[in-house]
Amino acid sequence: MESEVIMVIGAGQMGSGIAQVAAEAGYGVILHDVQMDFVENGMARIDKALSSQVQKGKIDDEGKRRVQSRIKGSVTYGDARNAHWIIEAVFEDYDVKAKIFSALDEICLPETLFATNTSSIPITRLAASVKRADRFIGIHFFNPPQVMRLVEIIPGLKTSRETVREARRFVEKVKKESVLVKDVPGFLVNRINAALRLEAYTCLMEGVASLEDIDKALKLALGHPMGPFELADFVGLDVGLNVLKTLYEGYKDPKWRPSLLLEKLVLSGDLGRKSGKGWYDYTSGQKLPRADVQF
Ligand SMILES: NC(=O)c1ccc[n+]([C@@H]2O[C@H](COP(=O)([O-])OP(=O)(O)OC[C@H]3O[C@@H](n4cnc5c(N)ncnc54)[C@H](O)[C@@H]3O)[C@@H](O)[C@H]2O)c1
Repeated sequence: MESEVIMVIGAGQMGSGIAQVAAEAGYGVILHDVQMDFVENGMARIDKALSSQVQKGKIDDEGKRRVQSRIKGSVTYGDARNAHWIIEAVFEDYDVKAKIFSALDEICLPETLFATNTSSIPITRLAASVKRADRFIGIHFFNPPQVMRLVEIIPGLKTSRETVREARRFVEKVKKESVLVKDVPGFLVNRINAALRLEAYTCLMEGVASLEDIDKALKLALGHPMGPFELADFVGLDVGLNVLKTLYEGYKDPKWRPSLLLEKLVLSGDLGRKSGKGWYDYTSGQKLPRADVQF
C-alpha cells in the first residue's frame, strides 16, 4: 500500500523537524519553502539530526538513507495535490499563513486535512481563511520536534470530530503524545509557562532572589531541566515577549502584562543565546552573569 503523503510548508526550524519525524514514521513527505536553497537548508538540518542518531547508534546508515529517501523538496503548491495532510510551519504571521492556506484550499483534494503549527494565532481565525474549516486544526509541536514528545491538538470552532481523530492518529503514528487543548490564547503549555516566567521576572525585580538563584531553585526543587531565565535565553527573548503580548491582548487581563524589564532587553537587541546576550552573557562561549547591566 502506498504511504500517505504529508506536505510540510516551511522548511525552517520546526518544519524540517516535523518533516523528519513524519518520514521516520513512514509517511511520504514533501518539504516546501519559497526557494530551493531554503528547502536545502531544511534538508541539511535533517541530515545533521539523522547523522547524530547514527553516531549514537540509534539508527544505521541504511536507516538514515531510508528516512531521507522519503522526503522530497518542493517550491510549488501544485505538489500538494495528493497530500493527505498539509502541515504549515512558516513565519508567525497571520497574513502569510492565511494566503498559503487559501491558495492550497483551491489546489488540494477536498478530503485533504489542514494543520497549522502556529504558537499564538487563533486556530479559528486561520480556519476562516479556507472553505474546509471542518478539516482544519492546530497541531502544535514543541522545539525541537525530533526530541520533544508532546504535541498539542487544538480544534477550532468548526473543526470536526473526525479531524480531531485523524490528528490524534497522526500524532500517535509519529510516536508523540498528544493533549487536546481548547483554542485559547497561548493554548496550554505556553500559557502555563508564561505565568511561571512572569512570576520569575517579578521575583527578580522585587529582589526576592538573584537571577542565578531563581534558575537554580526551579531546577533543583521542581526538576525543570532549565531555569526560567535559561529557557527564555534558549527560546529567544523576542519570541517569549510575543507570547506574553498574545496573552495580554487575547485575554485583555492585566495579569499577562509583559515584563517591562523583558521589553527593555528586547528593545536593546539582547535576544538571548542567538544574539550573544539575554538574561545571561554568552559572548565568551560560556553562560556567565551579565556584568554590564544590573537587573
Ligand atoms: N521555534 C519554536 O520554538 C516554535 C515552537 C512551536 C511552534 N513554532 C511555530 O512554528 C512556526 C515556524 O516557526 P520556526 O521557528 O520553524 O520558523 P523559521 O523562521 O525557522 O522557519 C520558517 C520558514 O518558513 C518559510 N516561509 C516563509 N513564508 C513562506 C511561504 N509563503 N511559503 C513557504 N515557506 C515560507 C521561511 O522561508 C522559513 O524557512 C511558527 O508559526 C512558530 O510560531 C515555533
